[in-house]
Amino acid sequence: MNDSDIVLRRTILTEDGSSTLKLLCCNEQFHSLHGAITESEHIYINAGLRALPDREPINLLEVGLGTGLNALLTLHRACGRIIYYHAIEAYPLTTEEIQSLNYVELINPALSEAFQAIHEVPAEEWKNITPHFCFKKSFVRVEEALLEANRYDLVYFDAFSPDIQPELWSEAILKKCYHAMTHGAILITYCAKGWVKRTFRNIGFELYSLPGPAGKREISRCIKI
Ligand SMILES: C[S@@+](CC[C@H](N)C(=O)[O-])C[C@H]1O[C@@H](n2cnc3c(N)ncnc32)[C@H](O)[C@@H]1O
Repeated sequence: MNDSDIVLRRTILTEDGSSTLKLLCCNEQFHSLHGAITESEHIYINAGLRALPDREPINLLEVGLGTGLNALLTLHRACGRIIYYHAIEAYPLTTEEIQSLNYVELINPALSEAFQAIHEVPAEEWKNITPHFCFKKSFVRVEEALLEANRYDLVYFDAFSPDIQPELWSEAILKKCYHAMTHGAILITYCAKGWVKRTFRNIGFELYSLPGPAGKREISRCIKI
């Protein structure tokens, strides 16, 4: 997929009433058509954030900030845990796209300022969005991102599917995440494709296949051992 295809997208509604973006070039969305918020809660919050043993602060890396839904839900569900959230995004949303999303009204209207801040904070600057949630975004391709070794306790790996962007699921990129993770850290992703799971194992991750949200049989939780 080339750069011009990836930024041609429109907002649509998913089955739980929450919005997502659809790529016009192909049958690919930012979230499951069965429900964007439902999917994000199931995978990244319940199988990722909530599965992380107590450690404070939590250093979290997201590959593919996109709409900011995972970041917003993480802030909302943090339960007082201190989180440093570093998000990588190569093709940031336009202001119109951000305004077309209905997450704040569905999750909690009190999150409006936080959602705005996630999108408006200048790139490469850490910002305390709440006293417990510190956020930084890098507008860079993950291929070129410089990631500090042994830094992240949790990785949300939310790239487009391997059918669309196989290069982002390569051993080189997943190994880069592995090296950036602390011992015992979790990488959580919606992807449960056979060759991707084999790549996780080859790199040295301990792989757990977990039940997915509606419409998806399995998701993958990978632990750095
Ligand atoms: C499945 S969507 C992510 C959805 C996002 N987590 C959300 O909640 O909206 C994949 C994201 O990865 C971004 N992306 C695509 N290629 C990338 C690359 N090479 N490096 C970093 N991000 C990339 C896309 O622009 C898109 O925002």
